[in-house]
Amino acid sequence: MIRPLNCGTFRDPNIFEDPDEFNIHRKNLKDVYTFGVGPHYCLGAAMAKKITQLTIWSFLKRFPNAKIVSKPTFQNHFIIRNMTHLMINPCIDIKSK
Ligand code: HEM
Repeated sequence: MIRPLNCGTFRDPNIFEDPDEFNIHRKNLKDVYTFGVGPHYCLGAAMAKKITQLTIWSFLKRFPNAKIVSKPTFQNHFIIRNMTHLMINPCIDIKSK
């Protein structure tokens, strides 16, 4: 069986410099086809983007000083990696509460 994985293209170092680095400022970010391309482009893309945006925005509004304290871990699955742990320190100033 041959299973093409479109997410693998995002890791092509010929297209994306330091492909394993999370970088939202890449100049060629438009070349990331997270939601597919062409007639089968993801029907839920707009919803998925809005939910992601609202989730991150709400979290950062509630915890503006939050810091990632360790590298995330992922499950070892060849299609969907799924993040298993992401340690975050919310950096809440308890004294001012
Ligand atoms: C971050 C979340 C999501 C990602 C990364 C994603 C990714 C994708 C990708 C890459 C495709 C194209 C597959 C292909 O070319 O064969 C696709 C198709 C599709 N997605 Fe999503 N998706 C997401 C969320 C959603 C949600 C929330 C819905 C529905 C509410 C949805 C509904 C669909 C449907 C119905 C298709 C098939 C479109 C077609 O074949 O014409 N997706 N998605």
